[in-house]
Amino acid sequence: MDERLQKILAQAGICSRRAAEELIRTGQVTVDGRVVTEMGLKVDPKRQKIMAKGQPVGFSEKKVYVLLNKPEGFVTTLHDPQGRPIVTSLLQKVPERIFPVGRLDFDTKGALLLTNDGDLAQQVQHPRFEVNKTYVARVTGKPSAAELRQLEEGLEVEGRLTAPAQVKVRKAAAKESVIEITIHEGRKRQVRKMFTAIGHHVTELTRIAYGNLQLGSLKPGKFRFLSQADIGRIFHKDKKTPPVPSGKSAKGRGPGPRNKKPQAK
Ligand code: URA
Repeated sequence: MDERLQKILAQAGICSRRAAEELIRTGQVTVDGRVVTEMGLKVDPKRQKIMAKGQPVGFSEKKVYVLLNKPEGFVTTLHDPQGRPIVTSLLQKVPERIFPVGRLDFDTKGALLLTNDGDLAQQVQHPRFEVNKTYVARVTGKPSAAELRQLEEGLEVEGRLTAPAQVKVRKAAAKESVIEITIHEGRKRQVRKMFTAIGHHVTELTRIAYGNLQLGSLKPGKFRFLSQADIGRIFHKDKKTPPVPSGKSAKGRGPGPRNKKPQAK
């Protein structure tokens, strides 16, 4: 059956759909030996030969979902020009070609979702689904009530207001405090920049949850496979997110809120 080329690449576990579009745009994809740069070309992956970055695109129907406790000192890209360690080196026991969903800074640790399901990756990152991410930030000094309210209500970071956040104080002391913060946006180094904006420097940052999917007792550098129920926890009860899946999706390709459209705001 003919499918859009970027969708085929994402479903084959090459990368997310957005990254697939970039591969196509930059002339790194061929179909039957011809470089394809136009977007939206429909291709039959069973009959046509698709290559991405010079490699044949293989199809594993099995979708896998992994939660890694990323240690500090690893990048979440699949290739690092500076030669720093990459997170997938911690997942060599996973035979499928999985890729990280979104990013976590080199110096941030904690929950990192990886999958070969490009559609799910796109949904987790799509702003309309407003998937919450919860972090524990160790910061210098003791943020005042007014400063914490700024985090909660939204503040200006690089000329743009942040969306409201949930904030919980775990420890407050004059020298150093520990604050739990939940946001649904995914701007680069957002949590660090939010604390910088209120005058407190983040000295340690750990992501502890996506939605209601908790990192729990998973040790740094270790991973676990996620069940359908786990995936449902990512898209927790917020009314803008799809309902928790109760089984295989209609296409039988694993847990799937991904084919549902978000409800209108
Ligand atoms: N916010 C940050 O500042 N860093 C991360 O890695 C994730 C969110």
